[in-house]
Amino acid sequence: MRLSHLVPLSVMFFASIAEAQPLVPLPPSPPVPLSNLETPAKVALGKKLFFDPKLSVNGSISCAFCHMPKAGWADPRPVSIGVGGKRGGRNAPPVLNAAYQSLQFWDGRAGSLEEQAIGPLTNPVEMENPSNQSVVDRLRKIPSYRRSFREVFGGSVSIDRIAEAISAYERTLVTPNTPYDRFLMGEAKALSASQKRGFMLFKGKARCVLCHSGALLSDQAYHNLGVPQTGTLPVDVGRYAVTHDPLDKGKFRTPQLRNVALTAPYMHDGTFRTLAQVVDFYDRGGGKSRFATKDPLLVPLHLKASEKKDLVAFLRALSGETRKEMNQP
Ligand code: HEC
Ligand code: HEC
Repeated sequence: MRLSHLVPLSVMFFASIAEAQPLVPLPPSPPVPLSNLETPAKVALGKKLFFDPKLSVNGSISCAFCHMPKAGWADPRPVSIGVGGKRGGRNAPPVLNAAYQSLQFWDGRAGSLEEQAIGPLTNPVEMENPSNQSVVDRLRKIPSYRRSFREVFGGSVSIDRIAEAISAYERTLVTPNTPYDRFLMGEAKALSASQKRGFMLFKGKARCVLCHSGALLSDQAYHNLGVPQTGTLPVDVGRYAVTHDPLDKGKFRTPQLRNVALTAPYMHDGTFRTLAQVVDFYDRGGGKSRFATKDPLLVPLHLKASEKKDLVAFLRALSGETRKEMNQP
């Protein structure tokens, strides 16, 4: 049984403050699993796969079609559009820094990048391949891929090796050393006066840090904010689809906030176009939910207009650059 079944709300509230992870700079490189050590050739192969539309059933879309380098490696459309113009149910999160996350997707249904990378290939509203094997067969017919897989893995194309190469590439898509990181490391001038005020609000009056904590500014946990469900799905049960625990209905993973200024629109269904709209939403105490799981941590904040501006200014300090050579096919 989970703790939340047993303890009164007031205790939960303080428990979550105590558990909040410290706000620390992003480590320069993410953890690498021993089963998928990186080599430059593996990363180069992963990059080629990431940008290659041949991974989709009719050669029309690549991973980068929905995780666009120009849009913070996320999707500027509220919900993603797959093969044949089919619309999915959710907004694509950035692949930037995804390598630091303990679980992938808005509902945490994949545990590792390797596990995640296989999903889109056969997803009916993404790359729409009838089976993993059909992707493997297609790549096996391409001499340059045959050669690269042999060089990198000492064997032929397989679905696991596709996932490993893509994941090795994704582990290079990281953005440490943002103005915010430099400020945390002692460079007082890295943030403007407004951004510094925004950071104080983030940690204090605006209560953001209760969920957006740790190096990614995410507790990697699930909450129901009462976000308006305006996407293609009339109802999205969120985390419940993974756990079947009624207490998880309508809960979504707290997203990382790194590069958030680049990755509009916002929330799992892309319902808000601007960061100002997101801040207004929190100022109101969040939205109404059809589920009884709305998070009690959300309360009206009574922020002044200038405070809202400062918060948005702070969120803009979280953007960083990837290494240029990693950005293009
Ligand atoms: C048709 C658009 C589309 C394509 C193509 C696509 N993705 Fe995604 N991606 C999404 C959406 C939408 C989500 C969020 C889905 C969810 O949470 O249920 C997502 C989630 C992810 C995540 C998890 C990020 C996080 O923060 O949880 C990663 C990593 C990722 N995709 C990588 C890839 C890779 C690698 C490929 C190519 C093999 C790919 N994607 C192809 C739309 C797409
Ligand atoms: C109770 C936990 C909680 C608190 C407090 C909280 N957030 Fe969030 N935040 C989340 C969750 C969960 C989501 C995703 C919700 C969804 O899509 O349904 C989110 C989404 C966001 C997004 C959208 C990111 C994206 O990529 O779509 C931004 C920006 C954001 N929060 C900023 C803030 C700010 C600023 C504050 C303080 C004013 C704050 N949050 C307070 C949990 C929280």
